Amino acid sequence: MPDTPALEVKDVHRRYHLAGHELHVLKGISLRVEPGEKVFLCGASGSGKTTLLYILGGLERPTEGDVYMSGQPMYAASKNKRAQMRNTGLGFVFQNYHLLPELTALENVMLPSLIKGKPTESRAKELLGRVGLGQRLDHLPTELSGGEQQRVALARSLINDPPILLADEPTGNLDAATGKQIMDLLFEIVSESKKTLVVVTHDATLAERGDRKLVIKQGQLEGGIDLGKS
Ligand SMILES: Nc1ncnc2c1ncn2[C@@H]1O[C@H](COP(=O)(O)OP(=O)(O)O)[C@@H](O)[C@H]1O
Ligand SMILES: [Mg+2]
Repeated sequence: MPDTPALEVKDVHRRYHLAGHELHVLKGISLRVEPGEKVFLCGASGSGKTTLLYILGGLERPTEGDVYMSGQPMYAASKNKRAQMRNTGLGFVFQNYHLLPELTALENVMLPSLIKGKPTESRAKELLGRVGLGQRLDHLPTELSGGEQQRVALARSLINDPPILLADEPTGNLDAATGKQIMDLLFEIVSESKKTLVVVTHDATLAERGDRKLVIKQGQLEGGIDLGKS
């Protein structure tokens, strides 16, 4: 018997309504990601990668279908329950870092632990050290380069030690060398703590590093329904 998937998507659709016109972005996506698996999600710009990742992360409700985190439905759950699942179950790295501009690096990293009700400054400092920013704790985002801001965002995604990490084009705004450093760091951290990873990228060569590559095209996964490895 296979384990309960870390994440399972069952027949998810997402439609947007714009000025009386319907945009059917996700057309029946089903997939499962096993615990500890590293999956890349690829596809052309506008194909729905970000939409699907936000849905996976409990950040955007699908029009139809649901996402199961360790067997628990996210969208059938109450808003509070979903927020709790998000806060303890997964870390999210956004393409544009999404750091709060008025908070220091240390405060940004601590924020999800404050929300959880267990502020942990020592772990935040340790994580910033781990991503090479131990000397930049008191710096504001504007005082950091893009690569450094993404390192802060990576440390922040790990503060509550979530079993799952989701990253949306984490190297998309960085030059190739800095992007590779971030991706190496991400893989190192995920591998040593055996986390489940889903990374969105439009870079096909990056995607070869994962256990599995999913390609989204015209609202569907190429090759049909993905049922995971087992
Ligand atoms: N909030 C929204 N309202 C309307 N259309 C949206 C919204 N979010 C995304 N879209 C549309 O959905 C499609 C997929 O977007 P997205 O998931 O961002 O693609 P990708 O990340 O693959 O580039 C695009 O055509 C985009 O314009
Ligand atoms: Mg996107």
